Amino acid sequence: MSAPLPEPLAHTRADFPLLEREIDGRPIAYLDSASTAPKPRAVIEAVLDCYRRHTANVHRGVHVLAEEASEAYEAARTEVASFLNAAPDEIVFTRNSTEGVNLVAHGLGLGGDDEVVVTALEHHSNFLPWRAAARAVAVGLGDDGLPRYDEVERALSPRTRLLALAQVPNTTGVVAPVERWVALARERGVPLLVDAAQSASHLPIDVRALDCDFLVLSGHKLLGPSGIGVLYGKRERLAGLALYQTGGGMVRRHTDEGFTPHEVPQRFEAGTPNIEGAVGLGAAVGYLRALGMEAVRAHSLALGRHLVEGLREIPGARIVAGSAPLERRIGLAAFTLAAPGLGQEAIARLLCDRYGILLSGGYHCAHLLHDRLGLDGTVRISTHVFNTHAEIDRALAALREISGW
Ligand code: ALA
Repeated sequence: MSAPLPEPLAHTRADFPLLEREIDGRPIAYLDSASTAPKPRAVIEAVLDCYRRHTANVHRGVHVLAEEASEAYEAARTEVASFLNAAPDEIVFTRNSTEGVNLVAHGLGLGGDDEVVVTALEHHSNFLPWRAAARAVAVGLGDDGLPRYDEVERALSPRTRLLALAQVPNTTGVVAPVERWVALARERGVPLLVDAAQSASHLPIDVRALDCDFLVLSGHKLLGPSGIGVLYGKRERLAGLALYQTGGGMVRRHTDEGFTPHEVPQRFEAGTPNIEGAVGLGAAVGYLRALGMEAVRAHSLALGRHLVEGLREIPGARIVAGSAPLERRIGLAAFTLAAPGLGQEAIARLLCDRYGILLSGGYHCAHLLHDRLGLDGTVRISTHVFNTHAEIDRALAALREISGW
């Protein structure tokens, strides 16, 4: 195993009150951020401040608190736009990545003959909405679960309406060749949706440089609150989507003759939005920008390398997409462990109960992957900015102990 790299983000641990938790007297090792991430004080304070000082509705009120709430909400949109190098009017606040995908699936007006190209291991949120609205054409997987990305081109047909692919799947932790799909999408005149639910916490994202048409992410994995997410879309792409939900907030004028919706993005934000969620997400994104996303990427890649090198040394551990090069892996790996009498979920639970190590066990919203690899679940370790090599070592030592049970 290579020597642990320096940890320039180790100081961030002090920013996360959750990391002070113990379970049965053991300090926790939180290795489950792909599921949802702990929140730094900056986010907690921003949300509390909304409730304490600025509670009012947005875009409707005439009083001072309503102005403050609207300003805070729009400032969060601007912060998120800067994070992605987008314009504020290209940022739609949603509930999560899932809602962003559903919004596009509905807005494109897809029918049963239309095809959307995905991979077989997209998490359910980037698979089922396409399957429900159209025909999802799934690119297959190699023996260890790594998608056969070179088959994406062959999956395109005259009926393809969209390419919808995860930048980093939640079960591989491997950075996908998005640039290749963008080139392909441009060549074929097909739009591309990037699912950044996992990648946005680990990699700098520049939607202008990437040149994708849509991108979705979830706030709660990005150190922000739950119930807030983002759909980025190029202006003309968002403007071309059919209305998603109607109601207050999205309408400019309603008369007996009909109604006129607002322009994008408000057009897609019907009803009172998750104001505190948006403000909290703005704070989360500000926190990550202050750390520097290049530093965040380097930290994640170093943890990913350490994790996979360690897992490779454990007899009976089989890593999903284990053949992928280490330099393309973020700090996330799913694997199975052969342990006498224990299934994968039981292993994950034992890691919590006996060692205070919190991680995922099960199917991670990716049933097809497990079906195709013939796996009855996997264990998944996933990191964020506050995790250390020592925590990975702690998990590896526990896994080694369990495998020799
Ligand atoms: N999609 C989330 C996960 O990977 C919930 O755990």
